[in-house]
Amino acid sequence: MSTTVIILAAGKGTRMRSQLPKVLQPLAGRPLLGHVIDTAQKIKADNIITIYGHGGDRVQAAFSDQKITWVEQAEQLGTGHAVKVTLPVLPKDGISLILSGDVPCISQTTLQNLLATTQDKGIGLVTLTLSDATGYGRIVREHGQIQAIVEHKDASDEQRQIKEINTGIYAVSNAKLHEWLPKLSNNNAQGEYYLTDIVAMALADGMTVASVEPEQAFEVEGVNDRVQLATLERQYQADQAKKLMQQGVHIIDPSRFDLRGTLKVGQDVRIDINVIIEGNCEFGDDVEIGAGCVIKNTTIAAGTKVQPYSIFDNAVIGENTQIGPFARLRPGAKLAAEVHIGNFVEVKNSSIGLGSKANHFTYLGDAEVGAGSNIGAGTITCNYDGANKFKTIIGDNAFIGSNSSLVAPVQIGNGATVGAGSTITRDVAENSLAVERSKQFVKENYPRPQKIKK
Ligand code: UD1
Ligand code: CA
Repeated sequence: MSTTVIILAAGKGTRMRSQLPKVLQPLAGRPLLGHVIDTAQKIKADNIITIYGHGGDRVQAAFSDQKITWVEQAEQLGTGHAVKVTLPVLPKDGISLILSGDVPCISQTTLQNLLATTQDKGIGLVTLTLSDATGYGRIVREHGQIQAIVEHKDASDEQRQIKEINTGIYAVSNAKLHEWLPKLSNNNAQGEYYLTDIVAMALADGMTVASVEPEQAFEVEGVNDRVQLATLERQYQADQAKKLMQQGVHIIDPSRFDLRGTLKVGQDVRIDINVIIEGNCEFGDDVEIGAGCVIKNTTIAAGTKVQPYSIFDNAVIGENTQIGPFARLRPGAKLAAEVHIGNFVEVKNSSIGLGSKANHFTYLGDAEVGAGSNIGAGTITCNYDGANKFKTIIGDNAFIGSNSSLVAPVQIGNGATVGAGSTITRDVAENSLAVERSKQFVKENYPRPQKIKK
């Protein structure tokens, strides 16, 4: 049976007080709607239909790389109307999961459970029991069977005592959606076309309505304002941290952990507080990340220790390296095993060979450094002439004295030495010494200037 995912995303999101459409607000660095689309893809939906209204161009542009059928709901006349506008593109058979673009954390497991219990019943809901159900549609049951969903505004005092709520997530047969939706009316307290009225239609057709609870309560939480967004962010992060800890990661304080993307881990990885991990990262066994690091799209091999406040972006780091504190690896930084990169060292589009060290205040850009070389404090590869970029190539076992400028294109041979303070503009041959600085001037018994007396 084919599965369609219908995502409601036409709401304005007024309470966000933002220029950005609500479903583009980020949770864990990804738009709310992106989370729902990812989950739809995980359950291998055959097609994804998204209903847009406000800020449609921006919403569509944000997902232009995805195969999505976009349907406009120009006027928001209610959830039933929203699904109704998909009918021209909705398959005639199969089943649809109806989700909300602002309920980002719904899990694959909950949706699979919903599909499994709905099966040939033709309609199923995700419901949840809350201590305070105010505002939600209530699930009315008789002898355990679902009889209706009553919106809070339409509910009697007695119905308002019901704690079981409609989460707004449904599985419904497409044939039935085609049959029922054109028959919806807006004769209710809000003058809206309620999707929830399909429950009564199902009962009238002699069907029973299936239901499941979400695996975790936060999965069905919606986002209407920034307070809810921040609350959900922490719940989502706590859940990710828990999963990583279950895989053997030592997260020192899960309440100060942020993963905005994916992280693959080996064993005994340790992550100190306030670390932000973005994009797709991978940490090998025994990797340690110090406090305050920001690490994006980076692979770190086993045994590497990263000291606090280091920033990596699109870097590849070998085994048993030592990095930081305050190190910066920019795109294209490739460190071999046992490299040391110390404080205030910036590496961009450069490879550093086995065991080489740049421990203090250095810029290595567009450079190739061999194995066993020492890059002295304050070394700069001058890779840019104001118009073009050039390479600096440093061999194995080279020694670059402190505060040297290497003006690219330039090559420093294996075993070569550059004297401290040199500005090197010509290649330095293997095993030779290059020093470029004026001879030291000495004036003995030098009289320092004295303060002029007034
Ligand atoms: C709806 C349910 C309610 C349930 C609640 C869960 C109905 C009538 N009620 O309430 O039983 O407890 O969700 O949160 O369905 N949307 C559109 N177009 C519209 C109206 C809404 O795309 O014309 C979208 C919204 O952007 C949102 C979703 O549908 O993503 C739900 O709309 P919302 O107004 O939040 O739902 P409620 O009416 O509060
Ligand atoms: Ca509403």
